[in-house]
Amino acid sequence: MATILALETSCDETAVAVVRDRTILSTVVASQIDIHQPYGGVVPEVASRHHVATLGDGLRLALDRAELDWAAIDAVAATCAPGLVGALLVGLTAGKTLAMVHQKPFLGVHHLEGHIYANYLAEPDLQPPYLCLLVSGGHTSLIYVKGCGQYQTLGQTRDDAAGEAFDKVARLLGLGYPGGPAIDKLAQAGDPTAFPLPEGNISLPEGGFHPYDSSFSGLKTAMLRLVEKLRAEGVEPLPVADLAASFQATVARSLTRRVVACAQAYGLSTVAVGGGVAANSGLRQHLQQAAEAHGLRVIFPSLSLCTDNAAMIGCAAADHLNCGHRSSLELGAQSRLDLARVMELYTSHSASPSTELDATLGRQPTITR
Ligand code: KG4
Ligand code: ZN
Repeated sequence: MATILALETSCDETAVAVVRDRTILSTVVASQIDIHQPYGGVVPEVASRHHVATLGDGLRLALDRAELDWAAIDAVAATCAPGLVGALLVGLTAGKTLAMVHQKPFLGVHHLEGHIYANYLAEPDLQPPYLCLLVSGGHTSLIYVKGCGQYQTLGQTRDDAAGEAFDKVARLLGLGYPGGPAIDKLAQAGDPTAFPLPEGNISLPEGGFHPYDSSFSGLKTAMLRLVEKLRAEGVEPLPVADLAASFQATVARSLTRRVVACAQAYGLSTVAVGGGVAANSGLRQHLQQAAEAHGLRVIFPSLSLCTDNAAMIGCAAADHLNCGHRSSLELGAQSRLDLARVMELYTSHSASPSTELDATLGRQPTITR
């Protein structure tokens, strides 16, 4: 059993949690959405300043709610990559300092590994191997999860992340920031079949399409052209609910098709989902239905564990600590870091698990039509 105090400040949520293996003892999330809303997106400098101002209260509250003192904490963890470097540095520096002062081991955590681990908080009996669909503001990937720190990316977006597409389309429809929840809400009142939209297939040089990679820039442009056309035709007001529902259903269909193809090709019977877009009701519905039809088990974290939080960071850190992994107090913040390189964050690790995994998995099959 490992009890972890975890900090997450990679973007616009200041979050602190206390986690014991796969159980949340306390979780505090202070969102900066109201602060960034007037700018239509996250302003990095403003985000860093607010993390500094809020983190102390978050720490006190998380420890109070867990009803634990420092003697009961086995290690301190903080997100160290990927994210906004200034924002990451706030949690990372605080985490390393607390570890040093209280003489606890420190673990830096990869933000996306945290999103994967939110699924263990939802289903503590979950065991690798399984497929994880990661859909956040900055990432859209299909990850083969082999074990703690062992990941291989099987598919990804070639341009925008799913969350980014939601945010940009929301701006186009005048729905404000963050766009995902606004589109999700509006889509409930719309007709998802009102406007046919492209799913964003990636053509292969030998013909056919890449079965797992996706693209959202074509869909985004199609939405822009559609809105321009409706305006030119004098359609006023715009049918925003139908536009939102059609867009959401297209994203959900596109992701679901790739998830099912990938799980089947790699013989994985469990699919986990992580990241802010995992909260999307359209995606949850489509994926659940497809999973039932294809005999797959699908896991979704609760809505509050889909978006950024520190409990998922603590859960990942607990697993690493139980495996004997530790980070150096010299660990820095990185704006980008491939998930396959996650073991570089730890000092005691066996040789290159992701390379072994590449060899085990072999080449990806392709689907042609
Ligand atoms: O994982 P997350 O909180 O932060 C990152 O690591 O990026 O994801 C944020 C993204 C934003 O793009 C936001 O619009 C999207 O997740 N999002 C949603 C929903 N809730 C958040 N997208 C679609 N439907 C939602 N319900
Ligand atoms: Zn995130």
